[in-house]
Amino acid sequence: MGTMQPRVLVSEEDIRERVAELAATIERDYAGADEILLLGVLRGAFIFLADLARELKVPRRIDFIALSSYENGSDFAGGVRLIMDSRINVTGKHVLIVEDILDSGRTLSYLLETFEARHPASLKSCVLVRKPGQEVQVEVDYVGFDIPDEWVVGYGLDYGDHYRALAYIGVVEPESADDG
Ligand code: IMP
Ligand code: MG
Repeated sequence: MGTMQPRVLVSEEDIRERVAELAATIERDYAGADEILLLGVLRGAFIFLADLARELKVPRRIDFIALSSYENGSDFAGGVRLIMDSRINVTGKHVLIVEDILDSGRTLSYLLETFEARHPASLKSCVLVRKPGQEVQVEVDYVGFDIPDEWVVGYGLDYGDHYRALAYIGVVEPESADDG
């Protein structure tokens, strides 16, 4: 499985173009802001955040947070919690949460609630990819790509902690492993 090449869903070139477009849109939207605080969600958003931050031509600071899912069977199953908080105080800042993927919507909805409570000057979110059919209603401001409901890897996204460093966004298809 380690040598299996995931099928290309979004190419490196398409990602590069889209990240540049997103950066241009974000720059326009934040034209009046003194500075943006990009808050990346570890670990899946690390490559997306690195590329987006370098495309942006406006003053920006970078910080990271990390989350953990609650165990199945616990009182909070399906929920998430912050296991590493931001080091920069977000109060009064223009905060842009940068996340790898919007699936059920639970992660982003938790993050928006958590950071809104700290009174940022503004709070928006940006996700690299969005799958269809969120279970939790959540507003997202910037979306890189809308994709089908498949497990995607690469460009920061993992499958059992593999494939994160892949340059493109791909789909792992276990059946194809037996083909050759
Ligand atoms: P949520 O369901 O919107 O809360 O997303 C939960 C988290 O699951 C995301 O932040 C990702 O880390 C992970 N995730 C969901 N779908 C995928 C996928 O297709 N590939 C890799 N990670 C995923
Ligand atoms: Mg994630």
